[in-house]
Amino acid sequence: MKKNESKLIIRVLSKSFNTPDNNIQVLTNINLHVEKGELVALIGPSGCGKTVFLDCISGLLTHDTGEILVGDNAINKGKHFVSYLLQNDGLLPWRRIIDNVMLPLEIKGVDKKNAKKRAQKLLKQFGLSEFEKYYPSQLSGGMIQRAALARTYLVDNDIILMDEPFSRLDALTKLTTQQWFLYIWEKYKKTVLFVTHDIDEAIFLADRIYVMSVRPGRIIAEYTVSIPRPRKNDVSTTSQFISLKKKLLEALKKNRGFNSD
Ligand SMILES: Nc1ncnc2c1ncn2[C@@H]1O[C@H](COP(=O)(O)OP(=O)(O)OP(=O)(O)O)[C@@H](O)[C@H]1O
Ligand SMILES: [Mg+2]
Repeated sequence: MKKNESKLIIRVLSKSFNTPDNNIQVLTNINLHVEKGELVALIGPSGCGKTVFLDCISGLLTHDTGEILVGDNAINKGKHFVSYLLQNDGLLPWRRIIDNVMLPLEIKGVDKKNAKKRAQKLLKQFGLSEFEKYYPSQLSGGMIQRAALARTYLVDNDIILMDEPFSRLDALTKLTTQQWFLYIWEKYKKTVLFVTHDIDEAIFLADRIYVMSVRPGRIIAEYTVSIPRPRKNDVSTTSQFISLKKKLLEALKKNRGFNSD
């Protein structure tokens, strides 16, 4: 791979499903890019195709037409050049946290001792060392999300996809986990594309935000979040934040066919 491999570019991507009854068009002509080290949000109504889109980028699904590029390299069907945090955390309940986190390395063929060492180092940075021998059911929601993210970060890919990473957390845990995630993102400088329903979350975390239409999903708006970093949770009361929130709400409302007046 070439030097600028951690940039993600999607060009005119479309995806449909053939079901026994009909053909469902899910995504139409999606154009999107995430620069190296950028944190980009994708927001859109339920069922518009956000998860299908991330599945296409990750290689879990194959797209019909269009291009997915990592740097200058087209992603070949079925090849995985990205780490992907699924909409449910994907931790295996019968494996301890340490075994869950090191799983992708084991699958890649890294020997167990080495995989464990790397996982332990990362768990320390994610504040989970004390809990490495616990099972997922013994951790809080915030800890589970941190463990799932640790696993995503352990894989040596520069591009990370996250599908609603904080949506199942209660309001307070969500705020602290988002703040913590920003610290991790700034530390590792990965290129991140994440999906969310939560407008506040998109503004608080992202450098840029794409808005998707109802199905068949297409990009209907794009906003740059010029709120300076580091961002603290109280940024949501600033006029800059509120004005961007209004614009996003407008875009989503129009898109749903509501009268915005
Ligand atoms: N394997 C499949 N076969 C047929 N249709 C599918 C398949 N997978 C997804 N779909 C359809 O694609 C559409 C988009 O689904 P997707 O899960 O991407 O939505 P989403 O935007 O992630 O929604 P949510 O915000 O609720 O998670 C839905 O109408 C869904 O029924
Ligand atoms: Mg989804």
